[in-house]
Amino acid sequence: MAKSVQALLPLIAAIGFLSFLGFAMCDETLFIEGQVYCDTCRTAFVTKASNLIEGAKVALNCRDRAAGDLTYSLEGVTDSTGSYKLAVEGDHEEEICEIKLISSPREDCNETIPGLDNARVLVTSNNGISELSRFVNSLGFLKKEPLPECHEILRGMGMVPAMIPTSVKEPSA
Ligand SMILES: *[C@@H]1O[C@H](CO)[C@@H](O)[C@H](O)[C@H]1NC(C)=O
Repeated sequence: MAKSVQALLPLIAAIGFLSFLGFAMCDETLFIEGQVYCDTCRTAFVTKASNLIEGAKVALNCRDRAAGDLTYSLEGVTDSTGSYKLAVEGDHEEEICEIKLISSPREDCNETIPGLDNARVLVTSNNGISELSRFVNSLGFLKKEPLPECHEILRGMGMVPAMIPTSVKEPSA
């Protein structure tokens, strides 16, 4: 019994190696990765007051370049670090793909601005990048009320008062 298993070992090893080779050569799975944050200053960019959202839903949508028809779609949810990782089937080099915010579980931070709720991503392995992950710009849901410290944070980032959204109140004291 033990002897026959021993005799099979080289064969088992060979099968394992071949399937590994097949995996390495034919596998086309790309991972689309990114983060979703709460835009606590309502500025549409990350500040040091931003925080990451767990349980946010995003969708990857790919569309035909000419007609704009949806060709591929996939949804994902962010983990405890606000990150999502979508395993994509096939190559979508000829399509226009974007990640779009779908929903946020945080009632105080679930607003989106049309046009600022999506980010383009190239979903292809034919672009000279051998890594299997493509990273997407962070996308943010807006907090209903900006945090009190936002005025100071935005000034600290070099914004003059005229550039600061009026909803971001200047500290009164
Ligand atoms: C945000 O949350 C509030 C409170 O639950 C809800 O009434 C509102 O519809 C939500 N907005 C969006 C865009 O989901």
